[in-house]
Amino acid sequence: MKTTINGIQIAYTDEGQGTPLLFVHGFPLSRGAWQKQVEEFSGRYRVIAPDLRGHGESEATHGAVTMENYARDLQALLDQLKTGPVILIGHSMGGYIAFAFARMFPQFLRGLVLVATRAVGDSPEAAAGRRATAEKVRKEGVQSLVDSMVPKMLSSKSSDLKMVQEVRGLMSSSKPEGVAGALLGMAQRPDSTPDLGKLELSTLLISGDDDALIPYTESEKMSKSIFEAKLEIIPHAGHLVAFESPQEFNRRLEAWLAASAGKH
Ligand code: MLT
Repeated sequence: MKTTINGIQIAYTDEGQGTPLLFVHGFPLSRGAWQKQVEEFSGRYRVIAPDLRGHGESEATHGAVTMENYARDLQALLDQLKTGPVILIGHSMGGYIAFAFARMFPQFLRGLVLVATRAVGDSPEAAAGRRATAEKVRKEGVQSLVDSMVPKMLSSKSSDLKMVQEVRGLMSSSKPEGVAGALLGMAQRPDSTPDLGKLELSTLLISGDDDALIPYTESEKMSKSIFEAKLEIIPHAGHLVAFESPQEFNRRLEAWLAASAGKH
């Protein structure tokens, strides 16, 4: 489905009925990264999964897209869909966006799931690297970035070539300007560590134990600062843990949803 949000066309999935779950994909992916969760959870929940601005089938805009810009798009989409407060499940950059969303629209949240993400911002070196990559993507397209990122998305032990091709497909649909905008936005995101202790939401943190991009120790660290946190580390899974190990991921998410149902 497509709709106009903040003046741009946003593609999204909205399936099922019940407590609304908002799945926010990472960089430079699309809502297809959640396809195994949409299938599993839409029988019992209302599942909403947008393509973020500049990703998948959603329109791109020029310039940096901050985590706050994405959060505003998400809130406007939820408003339009009249979902009421959601449980936000954010993967990696989707987690950075979740922190911005929690600061800006706490009344729209009833729970938080942070998947393979981190609270800290970029070091000056990392931010400079992102700006250089943004320039390169604008000049040369997304392919070189896709080539360098694909091997880091799945567990180092993964030998599933079909899955590797699927991940490549998910990334290749992003537009150069959308990818550049996300890189520039991530480079300027704030450190969300001080927010962790203020989160008044039941929170689940999930990581794969073989994540080459954001080590699972980041989830461990964050879980110690969040008042009501549950930590799940999935064995033999990489950065794209929900896609690579959907059964394990879905089982743990479902258990947490069921255990904390009264609290949401
Ligand atoms: C992601 O998966 O969203 C990115 O790897 C996050 C990042 O580059 O920091």
